[in-house]
Amino acid sequence: MPSVKFETGRDFAQAMTAADPLAPFRDRFHVPKTPDGSDCVYLCGHSLGLQPKSARAYIEQELQDWQRLGVEGHFHAQNPWMPYHEILAAPTARLVGALPSEVVVMNSLTANLHLMMVSFYRPTATRHQIAIESSAFPSDQYAVQSQIAFHGYDPAQSLLEMAPRPGETTVRTEDIEKWLAEKGEQIALVLLGGVNYYSGQAFDCARITQAAHAQGCVVGFDMAHAAGNLPLHLHDWNADFAVWCSYKYLNGGPGCIAGCFVHERHARTRQLPRFAGWWGHDKSSRFQMPSQFQPIPGAEGWQLSNPSILSMAALRASMEIFDQATIARLRGKSVTLTAYLEFLLAQQANETFSILTPRDPAQRGAQLSLQIRNGGRALCDRLGRQGILCDWREPDILRVAPVPLYNSFVDVHRFADKFLSEVKT
Ligand SMILES: Cc1ncc(COP(=O)(O)O)c(C=O)c1O
Repeated sequence: MPSVKFETGRDFAQAMTAADPLAPFRDRFHVPKTPDGSDCVYLCGHSLGLQPKSARAYIEQELQDWQRLGVEGHFHAQNPWMPYHEILAAPTARLVGALPSEVVVMNSLTANLHLMMVSFYRPTATRHQIAIESSAFPSDQYAVQSQIAFHGYDPAQSLLEMAPRPGETTVRTEDIEKWLAEKGEQIALVLLGGVNYYSGQAFDCARITQAAHAQGCVVGFDMAHAAGNLPLHLHDWNADFAVWCSYKYLNGGPGCIAGCFVHERHARTRQLPRFAGWWGHDKSSRFQMPSQFQPIPGAEGWQLSNPSILSMAALRASMEIFDQATIARLRGKSVTLTAYLEFLLAQQANETFSILTPRDPAQRGAQLSLQIRNGGRALCDRLGRQGILCDWREPDILRVAPVPLYNSFVDVHRFADKFLSEVKT
């Protein structure tokens, strides 16, 4: 959408919704209802995306084939289960800016992060640090701490947390570059969230990857809050690896199978250690049951187990919608939708709340994190009871994500209206 002069009235929100070429996509999703049967204002796509209406048919197809064919479904289902995950490679690659051979859906996010660190965190006596952003998602913090300890190092020495300057709320790219220039020789791995779960800050992945590589560091990204939210260019950015979940902006459903990217320059590297399983073994000889592991070149070679078909079926429904909407068009709407939310709130921001997320659209995705001075959790609960669903992160953040696939300008207006009247009380 071209840049728009926003207005505060509800009629403006209605006109924007009417003029939105992506608005029909909302009807492809089940929007939770209030007790009186009207649509909730669902602003939790950063946590759990909504269910595509088509997910049921995709899952039912597999249930029917299982009912009809039993084990033969691996070869004779309408979409044979043996290569089922391959169907997701092309749409996933389009979404994250990768070659199909660089991506695979498998496992869950934290499990994939560990698998990637087994291969890409190779500490030595002089280079054993992992650099992460401060306030990284706790699971990432536990994962890196446990990897450091697993290799016999002390997280207190080997974990470098990159924090905002005193008095600031987000980490400056130039500060990350400075840390890398000063300490890069001790850093084995730089691991950043593409979008930080708490602040909503989107990092400059290209610049950071370049600066880290210049110091000989390996670079990985947790794209949980970025995949399906921002256009990604993992291949061109030259990231070594990335992982993400599929239940947030990707709408794959609770606990859905996760994603993983390994840059093609590592596709055939034999020196990389890895934890292996039979699904990562060469497809042509897998069922000859050889005892020697022969990895499939590319990201598929990191698979362990045969994946959940039902989970992948749900994800296919959503990826089909992404292919139709396209991430470029979604991002265009997202920039306007989040700016509109910011516009409605910023006029009233005062001592009761402030916006933590960067004001620069290039440094954020859909989410705005609102720092609430007092009573934020109770405020979140009150909004919830009125059908306005956002979420609360301790100690003081209300996360609000208008998702361009299914949220409208009217949703944003309804949220702002209720929030501003509630936050004052
Ligand atoms: C940034 C980030 N990393 C990791 C996780 C953990 O995900 P999982 O439970 O799928 O391993 C989450 C979950 O919300 C997350 O937001």
